[in-house]
Amino acid sequence: MGQPTRGKTARNRLRRVDNFLAFYDPGLLRREDGAFAGAWFVDLGYGAEPITTLESAQRLRRLNPTLPVLGVEIDPVRVAAAQPCADELTQFRLGGFNLPLQRRADGALEAVRAIRAFNVLRQYQEEEVAAAWQTMARGLLPGGLLIEGTSEPYGRLWTANLLRRPQPGPLPGEVELRHEGLVFSTNFRLGFDPADFQAVLPKNLIHRMTPGEPIHSLMEGWKRAARETMAARVWGPRQWFVASVHRLAALGYAVSLRPKLLAAGYLLVRRF
Ligand SMILES: C[S@@+](CC[C@H](N)C(=O)[O-])C[C@H]1O[C@@H](n2cnc3c(N)ncnc32)[C@H](O)[C@@H]1O
Repeated sequence: MGQPTRGKTARNRLRRVDNFLAFYDPGLLRREDGAFAGAWFVDLGYGAEPITTLESAQRLRRLNPTLPVLGVEIDPVRVAAAQPCADELTQFRLGGFNLPLQRRADGALEAVRAIRAFNVLRQYQEEEVAAAWQTMARGLLPGGLLIEGTSEPYGRLWTANLLRRPQPGPLPGEVELRHEGLVFSTNFRLGFDPADFQAVLPKNLIHRMTPGEPIHSLMEGWKRAARETMAARVWGPRQWFVASVHRLAALGYAVSLRPKLLAAGYLLVRRF
């Protein structure tokens, strides 16, 4: 399900997404209990070349050396081009939001622990987003995570939705998804200005930057927090970013203040 779109990608573009996942939920990437044994990490819509999938496989296997990684593309030419890069733990398959899962030797359907869909939905209509999330979620194990977002061309800035398929599983035929957070990521190469993230908001939010919308209030709150902590700028963009997030929390926003997350340039907003 879906449609082929531009396949632009870049080396290391999603490095910080992998790093975030490894920090945010290492247990999900490592676990091998029950249905999680051999469950895929899926890179959906890897683009013209399978670089991001291969890089993630290498990075995430530092946490789980036998993590199976599946690259999914809706463009058959891109799937064919990736085949020489496949190996025992890394595969590339033709598919869409409805993941191309196969039956294992024991007859059970393959399982998925996490899906990363980056720079995919930005090329769809906003109205298509909810259905795409639901369709992807159908392939996830309960407890599994979908990270769906948009980045600038080199991955220096990005934002992403974190969507969890909750435990215990929903009623038959029903797929529930919990919005667990919105992540903002910067490596500070472009300095620090909350307004810069507006160009890389996920598709469900990018057209909602208007007064009265929750994302608008959040961004205005963060801009205010940045203005009010401008003195920290003398220590560099990273310290200013950290100070602004603390101020955002003081303004009443539900944000994570884990020092390691902040120092690495991630703002995690749990509700807004
Ligand atoms: C801009 S590229 C992004 C590549 C990579 N994820 C990145 O961020 O660098 C988007 C890719 O998503 C693919 N795509 C679009 N809709 C899809 C779908 N429903 N299922 C799988 N792939 C899809 C397109 O064919 C395209 O190659």
